[in-house]
Amino acid sequence: MPDTNVLTNNPLTRDVVYPFANATFLAKHPPICVEGGDGVYISDSQGNRFLDGQAGLWNVNVGHGRKEIKDAIIAQIDKLSYYSTFGLTTNKPSVDLASMLVRMTAQEGMTKAFFSSGGSEANEAAIKLARQYWRLMGHPARTKIISLRRAYHGVTLGALSANGYTYYREPFEPLLPGFIQTETPYLYRNPFTTDHEELGRLCAELLEREIIYQGPNSVAAFMAEPVQGAGGVIVPPPGFWPRLREICDRHGVLFIADEVVTGFGRLGSMFGSRAWGVKPDMMVFAKGINSGYVPLGATMINARVAEPFDTEDDAQFTPRAFAHGNTYAGHPLACAAAMANLKIVEDEDLPANAGAVGAHMLARFQALQDKHHNIGDVRGKGLMLGIELVADRATKKQYELTEGFGHRIWERCIAKGVLIRNLAETFIISPPLTLTMAQADLIVDTFDEAIGAVAAG
Ligand SMILES: Cc1ncc(COP(=O)(O)O)c(C=O)c1O
Repeated sequence: MPDTNVLTNNPLTRDVVYPFANATFLAKHPPICVEGGDGVYISDSQGNRFLDGQAGLWNVNVGHGRKEIKDAIIAQIDKLSYYSTFGLTTNKPSVDLASMLVRMTAQEGMTKAFFSSGGSEANEAAIKLARQYWRLMGHPARTKIISLRRAYHGVTLGALSANGYTYYREPFEPLLPGFIQTETPYLYRNPFTTDHEELGRLCAELLEREIIYQGPNSVAAFMAEPVQGAGGVIVPPPGFWPRLREICDRHGVLFIADEVVTGFGRLGSMFGSRAWGVKPDMMVFAKGINSGYVPLGATMINARVAEPFDTEDDAQFTPRAFAHGNTYAGHPLACAAAMANLKIVEDEDLPANAGAVGAHMLARFQALQDKHHNIGDVRGKGLMLGIELVADRATKKQYELTEGFGHRIWERCIAKGVLIRNLAETFIISPPLTLTMAQADLIVDTFDEAIGAVAAG
């Protein structure tokens, strides 16, 4: 039986069910209640200040408290706080943001945007667009979605079924039929090779074999993150994505890029697809689209996907309407925030800063491997870094989660004023893209001291 006193005595945990968090653990280790945010810093209810090394949830890319975004939200709320976009009515900010997104993704060939309220919903829309696309194209049997192991695409049942992580999947099984995952190029742990490009070739080949095995005429789409995030920051080799695109083309399969984390600069280029030189058929955005100031997701489609939905039928509810939508799709406040946010991203060239500061931080973390034998692997691209801990470097044995090794490091970093994310065996560093070199050094130095002190006992 749980200790009910512990569970009920803490006001932060008594009345709330937290996502992905054990109630008893939280009651004993109360969450930091964040009350203030300013640039790359946040502060809690006791007045403690932390460098936000996780940018909220890898989304507050322009930093906290940006006046430009606040002003845009206020100006919009003075005019109109909400109106539906369900056809026959719409609102101006959603129309203007769609145009801005089409301009920004012109290089990738996107022509239209469909709005929702977050990343899971935006992926859900991509999955449904893919299925309805094939139905309209006269191939209703093309329904299957293939993704990668260790993928994280969200929590709604469609997006969840595309996830490649047992922890997220298991409690809700059976998931949707027709969702399949193939191998991801996880260099540090794989049974195939220690050569990154060769691993990419093998994983691409496994995807093609799976498409052929399933029967290409049953596969609607393949979806992937340009760099896998919640799966532990898995960076593919440069040749991997172009190969995936070729394979999809060979078998007529749609290619969906889940850019929920990588969109708008995090990898050091405006989009992850751009970093890999690939034009997907759909690009899925959320998080960095407006740095989390108001919930928003967007699913972008290219001309190929848009074509069968563009109809000359003169009636509203024809089978060619995309039969999907959320009340808050294209929320005016979210879209106004997004336009102000994206202007900052472009004006301040935040992708370039993410690239430069990220490369510096990656090199510094890699150097720490010589000093700390508990650091098994360091990987990353731009301001998206993963540090994988091991109990034994020779065997790559992982710490038991119950040992709390990672959590003790996390606590020590917190005590020194740096918040970074401890996700199972991996620490994830994903700060705002405005991070300076000095702030990057502070994150590395704090982690260096913390892991040394915790390992020493
Ligand atoms: C790559 C990716 N896709 C989708 C999602 C789901 O987004 P949301 O939590 O906004 O539903 C996430 C969330 O972290 C993500 O990292």
